[in-house]
Amino acid sequence: MIEAEHLTKQFKVKVFKKFVAVDDVSFTVNDGEVVGLLGPNGAGKTTIMRLLATVLHPTRGIARVDGYDLRTHSREVRRRIGILPETWGLYERFTPREHLRMFGQYYDIKKDVLEARIEELVETLDMSAFADRECKRFSRGMSQKVALARTMIHSPQNLLLDEPTNGLDVMSARLVRKLISQLREEKRCVMISTHILNEAERLCDRLILLDNGKVVTQGTPAELCEKAGKSNLEDAFLAILGREDVEVV
Ligand SMILES: Nc1ncnc2c1ncn2[C@@H]1O[C@H](COP(=O)(O)OP(=O)(O)O)[C@@H](O)[C@H]1O
Ligand SMILES: [Mg+2]
Repeated sequence: MIEAEHLTKQFKVKVFKKFVAVDDVSFTVNDGEVVGLLGPNGAGKTTIMRLLATVLHPTRGIARVDGYDLRTHSREVRRRIGILPETWGLYERFTPREHLRMFGQYYDIKKDVLEARIEELVETLDMSAFADRECKRFSRGMSQKVALARTMIHSPQNLLLDEPTNGLDVMSARLVRKLISQLREEKRCVMISTHILNEAERLCDRLILLDNGKVVTQGTPAELCEKAGKSNLEDAFLAILGREDVEVV
């Protein structure tokens, strides 16, 4: 479970100038729920995920992961969270299995447990054809699978997936969506950011719409359509954002 209360992140952009990337954001994501963070580019989606993953520190506000406060229990939080970042940062000379072994060791997973987990992930993500090839020249789909497997190596209860299907081919995107549904069935807590509305509508139980670092509205896709008096999510979002020129989300 992830809870954020009044989460705020300011970046110093010049000596006397600050920029508020995340502004007083509050939400809860329960176990067994897939919640979508939506918003135009620059809305603050990635920054929220980086705050929750303890990569950045909030300027104000608090967040808890499975009840552990980010500020005082970052180690506990990190063990309970798996984050799929926007950019993967794979090592070209490492094979997928080597990546997974290395990440597993970060989490102090016992050797035999780790090897079994690696095999499980290679199978689930359909990676056996390239699991022992160096990651150099991998396609987006292949790289994303390695990154996803890495995100899940320690079987985290909470998952933060930043644009998980971005740029993937049809088959890989489908597999990732299936995996997200599976995580929900396992009663995990999943937060995804996406700018593909169609996908958000299909995958997510609830949506949080962000604009300029602030929560504009949150609810189920049906609730948001009803609130805006529109029949589809795209029209609803444009109406809620109050403009038509955004690159929608
Ligand atoms: N380290 C940083 N320093 C200064 N500004 C940043 C930093 N990281 C993100 N930002 C700014 O914060 C805003 C939100 O960014 P981001 O969270 O990446 O948005 P999104 O993921 O929704 O596209 C953007 O305007 C971005 O330029
Ligand atoms: Mg982003």
